[in-house]
Amino acid sequence: MERRAQFATRIGVVATTVGSAVGLGNIWRFPYEAGTHGGGAFLLCYLFFIFVIGIPVISAEFVMGRSARSCILGAFRTHSGGRRWDGIGYCSILAAILILSFYSVVAGWTMEYTVESVAGHLGGVADAGRHSEFDRFISGWRPVIWMIAFLVLNALILLGGVKKGIERVSNILMPVLFLILLAFCVNSLLMPGASDGLKFLFTPDFSAITPGVVLGAMGQAFFSLSIGLGCMMTYSSYFSDRTPIVKSATTTALLDTLVAVLAGVIIFPAVFSFGMEAEAGPKLVFEVLPSIFSRLHGGEVWSTLFFFLLVLASLTSTISMSEIFIAFVCEEFHMSRRAATILLTLIAMGLGTLCALSFGPLVDVTMFGKTIFDLFDYVSSNILLPLGGMVISLFVGWRLDRNTLTSQLNSNGRLPRWVIVWLLISLRYIAPLCILAVFLAS
Ligand code: TRP
Repeated sequence: MERRAQFATRIGVVATTVGSAVGLGNIWRFPYEAGTHGGGAFLLCYLFFIFVIGIPVISAEFVMGRSARSCILGAFRTHSGGRRWDGIGYCSILAAILILSFYSVVAGWTMEYTVESVAGHLGGVADAGRHSEFDRFISGWRPVIWMIAFLVLNALILLGGVKKGIERVSNILMPVLFLILLAFCVNSLLMPGASDGLKFLFTPDFSAITPGVVLGAMGQAFFSLSIGLGCMMTYSSYFSDRTPIVKSATTTALLDTLVAVLAGVIIFPAVFSFGMEAEAGPKLVFEVLPSIFSRLHGGEVWSTLFFFLLVLASLTSTISMSEIFIAFVCEEFHMSRRAATILLTLIAMGLGTLCALSFGPLVDVTMFGKTIFDLFDYVSSNILLPLGGMVISLFVGWRLDRNTLTSQLNSNGRLPRWVIVWLLISLRYIAPLCILAVFLAS
């Protein structure tokens, strides 16, 4: 059998999993979800889910993926010795396709903004003008073209293979993005009225914690960490045997959360300082950021750099969700990587078109009061991901052979016993019960 490709370095492992986790989920979705769900209350619940459920579930995905060395479907089959769990694999692949479709639309908006900034269109625009300009842009056909362009880029990187394509891009990109975020944080903190924004984000109003807020925070935690559909599982099938699992999981979660909080610290002081609406929804970041840039010296340059890096961060995330589908069709149907990539790209382009148009021509096509875009997002993030996470934790906690579990966790020296015990308790009881409780409550 052909030897499975592996990541070359430790740094490569962290950079790649962080590359998957950090993306539009942190910089676009987190601020808008926090804004519509009451700020501080949302952040508190989000942090709870990251640490209590997130880290154990990432570790569980790593354990399953690396020991089986295959995609999600294969991992469940290897560890259960049968095909009874196939359904969960198919659900994940469906979720990956749905997420890729709406994600590419937002990534397409980001591309439009990059090109606009290069052309110098962002700097001098007044806030009111920017507002309607963005509305006009997303309600037209141009987002479809950008979505297609983004998916083509995604496909080109995928065809470069695991190591060459993914690792190289994320190694260079992540630190630069991080520095830029830090610089913008400082800039936002210096704005007049910044304290109102900080208060909104960091002071939880406990009475605002409703089942809807808790469900939203749980979905956001899963989405942001790329867990619940075997994405981290697929990636860990390329880990070396010596990669420390819990350490990598924790590093990924910490860095991912840090980026989301930084994005919040950039956005909310600006929102309050400019007198904008925190509840603006998916548009929030795309209206606030240009207003920030237009007040900066050399705004176009900052803006170009920022949106360009955001496109790259989105690419490292979409590559990871594409990998779920590709690893699956390659292994299951013995399709070539190339054919699988093309197939996925075509499906995502079709569904992505529906999502892109749901801010314009298809705005009235709704189901349960949600547009196609919102529906794809809601179903995948708030339902399919937590459901997948629940099954993965139950499976690893109760079903997985205990020797496999401990030897995977101990692969790089011995892990303290309490960590293993805590992980087991979390996977067996805490994570599944929390997820169940949130589902029942909402
Ligand atoms: N976590 C990524 C982000 O925050 C998105 C993402 C990548 C994802 N792969 C995933 C979400 C798998 C869910 C499942 O932008």
